[in-house]
Amino acid sequence: MPETTQEPIKVYEGLAGVVFTESELTFIDGEKGILTHLGIPIQDWAEKSTFEELSYALLHAKLPSSAELAAFDAALKANRGVPPALLEQIKNYPKTANPMQMLRTAVSYLGLLDPNSEDTGAENKYATAIRMIAQFSTVIAAICATVEGRDAVAPRADLTHAGNFLYMLSGTEPTLEQARLFDIALVLHADHGMNASTFTALATASTLSDLYSAVTSAIGALKGPLHGGANEAVMDMLDEIGTSDRAVAFVTDMMDRKEKIMGVGHRVYKFFDPRSRVLRDYAALVAGKQGKSHYYQILEQVEETVVARLSGKGIYPNVDFYSGVVYSDLGIKKEFFTPIFALARISGWTASVLEYTKANKLLRPLALYTGQSDQPLTPIAER
Ligand SMILES: CC(C)(COP(=O)(O)OP(=O)(O)OC[C@H]1O[C@@H](n2cnc3c(N)ncnc32)[C@H](O)[C@@H]1OP(=O)(O)O)[C@@H](O)C(=O)NCCC(=O)NCCS
Repeated sequence: MPETTQEPIKVYEGLAGVVFTESELTFIDGEKGILTHLGIPIQDWAEKSTFEELSYALLHAKLPSSAELAAFDAALKANRGVPPALLEQIKNYPKTANPMQMLRTAVSYLGLLDPNSEDTGAENKYATAIRMIAQFSTVIAAICATVEGRDAVAPRADLTHAGNFLYMLSGTEPTLEQARLFDIALVLHADHGMNASTFTALATASTLSDLYSAVTSAIGALKGPLHGGANEAVMDMLDEIGTSDRAVAFVTDMMDRKEKIMGVGHRVYKFFDPRSRVLRDYAALVAGKQGKSHYYQILEQVEETVVARLSGKGIYPNVDFYSGVVYSDLGIKKEFFTPIFALARISGWTASVLEYTKANKLLRPLALYTGQSDQPLTPIAER
């Protein structure tokens, strides 16, 4: 079809509703609020599994046996180290850069330092995927250290993926409960079908470019406030609200002005995002044990007001609405939320690239041309 066509043709704005490939990994029913990986509900993954197991399942499109999971876990632990040259580079990133800009650059540099990065064969891509999942935690923790002006903490091989990350973030070993809560957050964010960053990764990979390039592109897409940046924006809003007694008036005003409330609404879910329910329950559990945090109290008021006013339109709180409060209760600063989203989503990105490129097809949609035709190229002096 020529791109210049002027014939009546349906334009799928934002590609909404367009199906371009098949996948065995993730199923979402946005009307009913269902999310499954390999057919297994997200609630079960969150309650009964780990980020390591889900990562294996996504990369292989099957559940691991206990021996397979043990070998996979050992491979992740063995790959936590990153080249010293990268750590040195991260230390010298400009202080004006934000953590996602740093992550985008760091992952691109990681590719530069990998002598096999241009080997796009399936076997090397799989080995690179495992390394990237493992190294992401060390890279992101080192970025957080740079932002905070302290030395990076070296990874430990005796902790879980989630526990080791929290350890590198603070230099203190987390409690089992903290590590588990963070593990659940990683599980909930590991994959989410054809979201903007995964699609971006596939668009890059579909040109037969390498995995580092695909992931670097995905990081660029995740960085935007309509995608990965939403939970940080939720925390900004909660900070602006200040106290729970101001919450109802504040969000009512926003809705009256037709402003978008961050952490609310979703392109796919027209009911509660099931991940948001799991996180809300855990946030409530933590609140029940430790007393409701300042943020949690404001959030409850915002949720009630938003659901009462917008649920009729199919607009409900999404996972980002709660994840920021959970992270913040874990002592994590809000500028690190989006890199932490990447820490989880690296599994989905790499698994989706491995799956898509098995039967690769260059991604190349069309745009309906609405410009002029048959125009002369007027000399510049006459324009
Ligand atoms: C995620 C998002 C981009 C999806 O948007 P979309 O599918 O393109 O939906 P639209 O922006 O067309 O919104 C449809 C309607 O719902 C309203 N709406 C959507 N999200 C809203 C929000 N966060 N707050 C208030 N109203 C919202 C729109 O104003 C619009 O109302 P209208 O029909 O009266 O004009 C959008 O909901 C959003 O910007 N949310 C906030 C950012 C966020 O949390 N992102 C993380 C997603 S996991």
